[in-house]
Amino acid sequence: MSNPLRDPRDRRLPKVAGPCGLVLFGVTGDLARKKIMPAIYDLANRGLLPPGFGLVGFARREWADEDFAQEVRDAVREHARTPFREEVWAQLSEGIRFVAGDISDPASYVELKRVVDEVDVTRGTMGNHAFYLSIPPGLFPVVVTHLKESGLTARQGREWRRVVVEKPFGHDLRSAQDLDRVLNSAFTPDEIFRIDHYLGKETVQNILAVRFANTMFEPIWNSNYVDNVQITQAEDIGIGGRAGYYDGIGAARDVIQNHLLQLLALTAMEEPLSFSPAEVRQEKEKILSAVTIPANIDLHTARGQYEAGWQGGVPVVGFLDEKGIPATSTTETFAAIRLTLDNRRWAGVPFYLRTGKRLGRRVTEVAVIFKRAPHLPFDSSSIGELSNNALVFRIQPDEGVTVRFGSKVPGTTGMDVRDVTMDFQYGDSFVDTSPEAYERLILDVLLGEPPLFPNSTEVDLSWRILDPILDRWSTLGQPEPYASGGWGPACAYDMIARDGRQWRRP
Ligand code: BG6
Repeated sequence: MSNPLRDPRDRRLPKVAGPCGLVLFGVTGDLARKKIMPAIYDLANRGLLPPGFGLVGFARREWADEDFAQEVRDAVREHARTPFREEVWAQLSEGIRFVAGDISDPASYVELKRVVDEVDVTRGTMGNHAFYLSIPPGLFPVVVTHLKESGLTARQGREWRRVVVEKPFGHDLRSAQDLDRVLNSAFTPDEIFRIDHYLGKETVQNILAVRFANTMFEPIWNSNYVDNVQITQAEDIGIGGRAGYYDGIGAARDVIQNHLLQLLALTAMEEPLSFSPAEVRQEKEKILSAVTIPANIDLHTARGQYEAGWQGGVPVVGFLDEKGIPATSTTETFAAIRLTLDNRRWAGVPFYLRTGKRLGRRVTEVAVIFKRAPHLPFDSSSIGELSNNALVFRIQPDEGVTVRFGSKVPGTTGMDVRDVTMDFQYGDSFVDTSPEAYERLILDVLLGEPPLFPNSTEVDLSWRILDPILDRWSTLGQPEPYASGGWGPACAYDMIARDGRQWRRP
């Protein structure tokens, strides 16, 4: 008997992907091992993949299907969020295939097509496939061209083909547009999924929920009440084994162009008419179009490069001594930028964005810092420990929201007031752990739902903001050194001090 409480139109019910498969390029990379393959297993474990799901790996390795399956299994055992269950693995692994191919060899794509067609028959994937390009962007044109020429992007009737690309979406506006042309040559815009994994994070989506589901925040969400907004993405790790990717890219391209500008857009945007992809994007685009870059880039931006130091009690090398980094590299590992928005709601409110490697600790947060009360009827000695009210979205690792406000210190005869905080912690309020960003994003690709993926307009607008800053930086030579384990170079402190403010110490 059907359960009257389980109306299939109920939008709270989990959506399960229909028959489909995923072709993964770059299976030997870090991202595939740590994030993509574990997320696929987690989705299977949560019952969100179709029973006949197919996973086809493509790489230049002499592997048989079983070897690749073993790689996936190892990655899952090491990195999956949910517990390992043999019965889930048994079903998933039946759909795992491997194509030992060379990315630039047309014959490899003939073989790939044969395997994909075979998966359609044996697994019932019905011609629905996503091609996940977890490879350096320089290789996108060759893969996309071969996918098209080998007939792998052709679909009949209701079949679908989609492509998933990871950032960086180009190196600047021009190359981003070139990249778009390549993708558009084989896929329509709604078949292109650009992953910004920050948008898949529950805590990032929660910015919109907190803002638009409540009455008490929106009335003060504007320049009448907000003094400044500080968006921080700090990491304690260095570049690890990613020299090849990171050198010449740097902190601004790696994190500000995508994650931090998306956080800014979600924090500042107007309420969308609905949460449909088109409506949300429209509001984000308005914000990105309203961003004004500093008139004096030297005064309102800062960049740095980490030096040797100590982290977690162990000595660490400086950026220039990292393996694979040339001793003359001018790549920044820390970047800070002050932006303003040219619209009524945010006129005059600075948005400070900063990101860096080898900082004091790993933390990402959006802090909305309010103005001081217009009048404080206290002795100045009673409010020495009272700072500005703040609402902080703690994106990670300690997920939640903090409100900071002043409160009377008990036991004092006078009205001594100091800062206290009210905390919402995910772990206290929700039983289940949050899905990984990649679980949500891969499921959305398979469902064909793009609300959490930036489109090409957002990407272009982000580069329009960053290009002039990067152009200027490229003329400045070496970034300012900063000690590993600290909070960035002195020029970043000077930058914000010029406005009479200081960085939050997360
Ligand atoms: C990636 C960057 O996009 O985000 C990395 O390329 C960075 O350099 C990572 O380490 C940070 O992601 P998260 O989710 O750990 O904040």
